[in-house]
Amino acid sequence: MSFYDAVGGSEAFERLVHRFYQGVKSDPLLRPLYPEEDLTGAEERLRLFLIQYWGGPTTYGKQRGHPRLRMRHAPFVIGEPERDAWLRHMRDAVESLELPEELSAKLWTYLQYAAQSLVNA
Ligand code: HEM
Repeated sequence: MSFYDAVGGSEAFERLVHRFYQGVKSDPLLRPLYPEEDLTGAEERLRLFLIQYWGGPTTYGKQRGHPRLRMRHAPFVIGEPERDAWLRHMRDAVESLELPEELSAKLWTYLQYAAQSLVNA
């Protein structure tokens, strides 16, 4: 069974990413980084990416091609403060899912690793 199935499919990712962007919306450091006034598109891209990463449908790739996340984050200044703010909202979102500890830990470890890999400043 994929991790995607283990957490209950798309609904878990919808909740995760929606909660995350609620945090981003009110974050004075992160909000200005997002180019679009409406965060709906950004929310959808992150949701589809995570769904694909964890073994769900590959809609992200069909719409966006190869993720190339380093390249796609290059226009944004991501230092330690931005990484920490991003992870703080993600931590809150992961906890809100109330997943079994093993699944929660797996998701959180990945997100920390991925966020670190995108630091570019
Ligand atoms: C896009 C910021 C970490 C996945 C974006 C965008 C910003 C941003 C400003 C553009 C929003 C848009 O699509 O309109 C950040 C910051 C991070 C971070 C400050 C802190 C380290 C991550 C991590 C992941 C991720 C860890 C994956 C686990 C994505 C994806 C997109 C995106 C999939 C859309 C790419 C595309 O298809 O265009 N991010 N991000 N980001 N981010 Fe991040």
